[in-house]
Amino acid sequence: MSSDLTAAPGPRRRLGEAPPAGLLDDGERLSREELRANQLAHLQATLRHAYQHVEMYRRKFDAAGVTPSDCRTLADLARFPFTTKADLREHYPFGTFAVPMADVRRIHASSGTTGRPTVVGYTERDLSIWADVVARSIRAAGGRPGHKVHIAYGYGLFTGGLGAHYGAERAGCTVIPASGGMTARQVQIIQDFQPEIIMVTPSYMLTLLDEFERQGVDPRTSSLRIGIFGAEPWTEQMRRELEERLDLHAVDIYGLSELMGPGVAQECVETKDGLHVWEDHFYPEVVDPITDQVMADGDSGELVFTSLTKEAMPVIRYRTRDLTRLLPGTARPAFRRIEKITGRCDDMIILRGVNVFPSQVEEIVLRTPGVSPHFQVLLTRRGRMDHMTVRVEARPQAGSRERDTAATAIAEGVKDGVGVTVEVAIVEPGTLERSVGKLRRVIDQRTP
Ligand code: DLL
Repeated sequence: MSSDLTAAPGPRRRLGEAPPAGLLDDGERLSREELRANQLAHLQATLRHAYQHVEMYRRKFDAAGVTPSDCRTLADLARFPFTTKADLREHYPFGTFAVPMADVRRIHASSGTTGRPTVVGYTERDLSIWADVVARSIRAAGGRPGHKVHIAYGYGLFTGGLGAHYGAERAGCTVIPASGGMTARQVQIIQDFQPEIIMVTPSYMLTLLDEFERQGVDPRTSSLRIGIFGAEPWTEQMRRELEERLDLHAVDIYGLSELMGPGVAQECVETKDGLHVWEDHFYPEVVDPITDQVMADGDSGELVFTSLTKEAMPVIRYRTRDLTRLLPGTARPAFRRIEKITGRCDDMIILRGVNVFPSQVEEIVLRTPGVSPHFQVLLTRRGRMDHMTVRVEARPQAGSRERDTAATAIAEGVKDGVGVTVEVAIVEPGTLERSVGKLRRVIDQRTP
């Protein structure tokens, strides 16, 4: 933990280069003008496809008084109705599919925390495009043909494992399909198979890091050079923690099953400045979550996506609940970026009238000496007041003085930075629940 990586990058950190021009695909070679022209043609086709083949969209468009022919420019999309997770659930399981079942080659589902899962389907062409965008994401992260990719996203109905899997194969990499769980064995496999790349949730990476240390292996000596982390929010502070402890490049991958899975947007390793949205397949808008108005690029709000090339299950103006803003492209100038997602509308804790996101707590915990990155937010009711306790694990070597100082620093950090008073409990190392996939950070014990 002591060496300064930005000052002295080890050999493995020198992999942070843009792909050579020959490795860019056709979509990445488009100019912004060509891209926009393609987007309009694909948007019009998608609206027609959805209207003709999915009863839900036909009813929604009719109710809003619009038909696909009303979309003459990209801005006209704002006239069309939104789609929510509830809409998809209502048509469980296959009611929003737009092709005959015989043409659906695969099904995935997102479990969600309540109610029925949301089911999504893919044609053969959808699966091929998905593999292409994940392959593009892996190259943007610094991956190259011949690299070994350890995939510790869960395999199954969750899109993480299989989505990463076929993308890594498409990128010409060698796949190690580890899936989630069996943490000790994962570390053994990494030691023995020597992958350059790991694809995993950032919270499960922390679990793996602890296991490296438990086995007496310095994670900085592992073969890993690139971590492609996503499926949950993580902060710049977490990037620093992971890069320093593992001596690798940590980059962000974003996606959601309703739209495809991983590979909707990806951070480029050479800039690490937010995620380029693969706009040739996914059209982004940002809307005000309260008024539903489309916001200008640069303004923060809820991310909304329309699929541009999907056959089996087109989605029109899907409300992701994720909060971010759109920024101009940098490393891939034709594609706009989204700022790293700091939270979801539904993650937001309203504590005595103040909005609090777990990511704000994460930033504060991670900059505090003496504590580990493992923390949990517990919400309870005391009398008529909501009460928030941040439980944080001490670092193994931290003594009681350092723990007290850390508790005070975190409480003050939250008070100053977020504006609420919270209780901080420093707990013993290894006592908080560990992630094997997506981590549940907030435990809400308030009775409604
Ligand atoms: O989590 C797909 C995925 C798998 C993405 C592996 C990246 C890597 P769902 O289970 O449908 O799909 O969950 C989608 O997860 O709306 C966000 O709230 C959150 N999410 C995904 N990636 C990120 C990220 C997959 N990089 C939901 N940063 C999304 C923050 C993310 N949140």
